[in-house]
Amino acid sequence: MHSQAPERNLGLDLVRVTEAAALASARWLGRGDRNAGDKAAVDAMRLSFNAVDIDGVVVIGEGEKDEAPMLFNGEAIGTGRGPRMDVAVDPVEGTRLLAYGRPNAISVVAMAPRGTLYNPGPAFYMQKLAVPREARAVVDLDAPTADNLKNIARALGKDVDDLVVFVLEKPRHEGLIREIREAGARIQLHTDGDVAGALMAVLPDTTVDVMMGTGGTPEGVLAAAAIKVVGGEMLGRLDPQSERERRALLDAGYDLQRVLTVDDLVASEDVFFVATGITGGDFLGGVHFTGTGAVTHSLVMRGKTGTVRKIEAHHSFDRLMQISSIDYD
Ligand code: FBP
Repeated sequence: MHSQAPERNLGLDLVRVTEAAALASARWLGRGDRNAGDKAAVDAMRLSFNAVDIDGVVVIGEGEKDEAPMLFNGEAIGTGRGPRMDVAVDPVEGTRLLAYGRPNAISVVAMAPRGTLYNPGPAFYMQKLAVPREARAVVDLDAPTADNLKNIARALGKDVDDLVVFVLEKPRHEGLIREIREAGARIQLHTDGDVAGALMAVLPDTTVDVMMGTGGTPEGVLAAAAIKVVGGEMLGRLDPQSERERRALLDAGYDLQRVLTVDDLVASEDVFFVATGITGGDFLGGVHFTGTGAVTHSLVMRGKTGTVRKIEAHHSFDRLMQISSIDYD
């Protein structure tokens, strides 16, 4: 028998990227300025990518080039040496959560071989239903909410009133919230952050069992990358919230009826998902400044091996100075 040297885990390079973004943006916690927090994260993330050995292209970024100076869709990133990869970024997922110091703002990057991440095109919104591995075969996006909840509860060996469903607190979810309550399940309402919601649904030992409702399409692809590694399912369907969005999708040839699975959103097993907590929450701690440095908490997931690492990193004061433009005097 001969053993093989282990392959390089690019996730361990990527975690430095999300750590940098989290460290830079955490300085804006609760300061009420969404754009400043996001900009700090984008700057730090963009710079950190210069040290990652990939021939990467941003497929999910900060938007089109004319509105985003950095990490725009189509931008080449990485050193150019290494595998050809699609890169999806959300330097701050939950800019409002950060601006108001609410839980679960995270910095996120997902990556898979070129051409294997779903292209959201002009799709801003997607209906989503995320469940853990045990319930992956029993969910149906067209079934009544009560039936889905009954089937999920049975698959998890619980009663419906044991379930906690993560829902974004948006006017569009009034009907959904009513249906969940009538079915007897419990709800966590969050103003933002459905990547964290989907992650909590699929990860063990969190306070959430299911994530339901309509959120961002790019966020759907990011969440799918994590679910591809840890197991579980997320069903999605494009759910335009304006006539303009609907038209743009139809003109671009998107099928608004199609139910997308995790495998449709991420077509390769060779996927990486990395997240670092910014504000902190019950599944991922936030950035903690110690006076002499800072501590970060991250998740690093690799699809090929199914490895999920939790990394607590202690950063020196010098490192903070390097990645942040904030004046420490
Ligand atoms: P940002 O980080 O861009 O602010 O997005 C946060 C978020 O809540 C996502 O988690 C979610 O998918 C999306 O916005 C929902 O959009 P909207 O607030 O327009 O309903």
